[in-house]
Amino acid sequence: MASLVAWNLLTFNLFLIILQVFAGRDFYKILGVSKNAKLNQIKKAYRTLAKELHPDKNPGDEDANKRFQDLGAAYEVLSDAEKRKIYDKHGEEGLSKGDVGGDPFSSFFGDFSFFGGGGGNRDREIPRGGDIVMDLDVTLEELYSGNFVEVVRYKPVAKPAKGTRKCNCRTEMVTQQLGPGRFQMTQQQVCDDCPNVKMVPEEKLLEIEIEPGMRDGQEYPFVAEGEPHIDGEPGDLRFKIKQQKHRRFERKGDDLYTNVTISLKDALVGFEMDIQHLDGHMVHVVRDKITWPGARMRKPGEGMPNYENNNVKGQLFITFDIDFPKGTLTEEEKEALIKILKQDSKQVVYNGLQASMFA
Ligand SMILES: *[C@@H]1O[C@H](CO)[C@@H](O)[C@H](O)[C@H]1NC(C)=O
Repeated sequence: MASLVAWNLLTFNLFLIILQVFAGRDFYKILGVSKNAKLNQIKKAYRTLAKELHPDKNPGDEDANKRFQDLGAAYEVLSDAEKRKIYDKHGEEGLSKGDVGGDPFSSFFGDFSFFGGGGGNRDREIPRGGDIVMDLDVTLEELYSGNFVEVVRYKPVAKPAKGTRKCNCRTEMVTQQLGPGRFQMTQQQVCDDCPNVKMVPEEKLLEIEIEPGMRDGQEYPFVAEGEPHIDGEPGDLRFKIKQQKHRRFERKGDDLYTNVTISLKDALVGFEMDIQHLDGHMVHVVRDKITWPGARMRKPGEGMPNYENNNVKGQLFITFDIDFPKGTLTEEEKEALIKILKQDSKQVVYNGLQASMFA
């Protein structure tokens, strides 16, 4: 009898455990990514959804609020290799309480919401810390495929300290009576006493999304991550995209330019080749006709993705230049070439810098 009770208890416990595993949230579903999603895909999904579900954008919407919190927890776990491993094996229950529930939002967008607040406040007389603009070196590969870059920022944060400090200082007019009918007006600095603070540097991780097609000089803002102001709000931190020079490609708008040197033989009899693109895919080039120095080939859709619409891509321009053999040909070789090329002798003299003006 006793064993039967124990058995029942055991199955009951098992049932509870199974229930708990299933009660855990499906973080992959919350982020809308597959089980084998790469870190960049997880970051991308988080960033897109967090923007959409942020409470400031959905005031009073309980459902959106809850989804925003689930999203934060899902990102927190899946973006951390260790936690993700545990989660994949044991579900949310496998993670201890302290492991889930941070707020990754501000590392993507800065401290304050970027929807309301921010900009509008500038009209009011709230003092504001300086904006910081920092160059961010980005490769053409990153601008083609997109990437996430982590920057650790040491940000001074105001912490309470002993004593008081002068604050909210302003100039006021003070009228003093010097005698009958005689007044003197002076300007005076008047301040309040505020609790003292000291600036303590705090480490903070910022995640910058390099979006496909971003342009050189484009700025990427983090609201309220700039210089702090002891009596007001902090300024913004802006990263300025600085496109690095590339060995094979030059960018002009959404178009790419590359030069290819081919041999004189290839120029005459034709050739076939592959050019490795910025994401590693190959652009196949076939040419049957004769290629002359400076000949340009155009590959639509092989340029950079357009920033506003990633599905549209610019063009790739390939300019050929010919590597001529050096030295002298024998008399027989010369004869053979004359026979093959069937070209008359021709010499045209023209302005070396502005040929087209006189053409
Ligand atoms: C590529 O080819 C064009 C046209 O011949 C030429 O003007 C340009 O200087 C070349 N670029 C380089 C880097 O040599």
